[in-house]
Amino acid sequence: MTEVTDAVGPAGRPSGPAARYDELIQPRRVHGSLYTSPEIFADELQQIWYRTWVYVGHVSEIAEPNDYVRKSIGPQDVIMTRTADGEVHLLLNRCAHRGNLVCEADAGNSSSFRCPYHGWTYRNNGDMLGYPFHQGYGGRNKLELGLGRVPRVGVYQGFVFGSFAEDGPTLEQHLGEAKGEIDRLVRLAPEGEIELSAGFLKHRARANWKLLAENETDGYHPQFVHASIFSVAESGIGALYGEKSTAVTRALGNGHSENDLRPEFRRLGVPLGWFGTTEEKVPNYVKAMRDRHGDSGAEEVLIEGAPHVMIFPNLFIAEIQLFAIQPLAADLTVQHVTAVQFKGAPEMNKRMLQQCVGSVGPAGMLLADDTEMYERNQAGVAELRPEWLDVRRGVDREEIDERGLTIGGATDETGMRGFWSHYKHLMTEGRVR
Ligand code: FES
Ligand code: FE
Repeated sequence: MTEVTDAVGPAGRPSGPAARYDELIQPRRVHGSLYTSPEIFADELQQIWYRTWVYVGHVSEIAEPNDYVRKSIGPQDVIMTRTADGEVHLLLNRCAHRGNLVCEADAGNSSSFRCPYHGWTYRNNGDMLGYPFHQGYGGRNKLELGLGRVPRVGVYQGFVFGSFAEDGPTLEQHLGEAKGEIDRLVRLAPEGEIELSAGFLKHRARANWKLLAENETDGYHPQFVHASIFSVAESGIGALYGEKSTAVTRALGNGHSENDLRPEFRRLGVPLGWFGTTEEKVPNYVKAMRDRHGDSGAEEVLIEGAPHVMIFPNLFIAEIQLFAIQPLAADLTVQHVTAVQFKGAPEMNKRMLQQCVGSVGPAGMLLADDTEMYERNQAGVAELRPEWLDVRRGVDREEIDERGLTIGGATDETGMRGFWSHYKHLMTEGRVR
């Protein structure tokens, strides 16, 4: 496959890094090397993963003072902690002495971390606490050293994001129109909060992270890749992604995208139809929702259901499941998956957990099919010809909605084009052409 350095135009044309991405990312097609080149992957870490806002975890995972959980930002091992004062910190798992990992457990409760190598200790806000045998450091019992920190931490509706850039757009600016989709998920919880308490599964895919991100709101594939689960589960979901569907694909800006299925659910008008259940089966949940939103408000919320949204670059909310994408190499990605749980909704939570296991569990019928496609895709893009991947589906029938956002049909590649437009912006911003 052509490397990025070979992809520039003839002599005399600009050949800086920005010009390369201008060439590789075009309105209707993207170059295959974007998925295979280790050089581009290294560049993405600097320009995207170690710069923009990246989803890390949820506050419910560190509910109590001194709770911590190990998370990641791309290949970086990040400890998400809550200090005794309630503050959330994102620390890098690297001792300031000789670089050993200071945190071994996946989660726990501790106000400090002790490095196993020479016993240096750190508070859970990253500050140094001390080390053994002071005389070797001139008798001083502290050095001006501590754990590395992710400089900016932002929380929206309990979702914790980190940015390695000291300055830049705020989290709210980055989320932009995607905030409303998170709000839409949270309002389905009778107590107005979600919890991530079900534990995570990790799915490793021998594929580039962008194949996963693009697929999350690709409404073209479900009828084919997921035909088996739709037929076994007698699900109406497949029809939502058909040529006649009134659902839309929307580019939300900043690389975020969604499959907005609400037009279909409103047309059908069945509360909880999006979840494949009925009000009679979860009476306490429905009552709690009526108490919170009023009868007509609850009706609307229960008909419209949960969002199907990809938040750039790594958070995918698939109605009642949450995925965090972690890139490890140009051809290796881990998808961390859990069931969303609604605070105050035990009836629903049990069902959401069951659905999650059935669709994205180890023997689940949904993600296994997607993962097969990711890996086949990665194997295919390594072939030499044709060099490009086509992303033009629906480009000539896009419209601008009342919010000024670009929308396409249910099966159109509008979300992918929005992803690539923002990707190109981040990869070229402030660089020479
Ligand atoms: Fe951590 Fe030496 S590497 S104490
Ligand atoms: Fe899929």
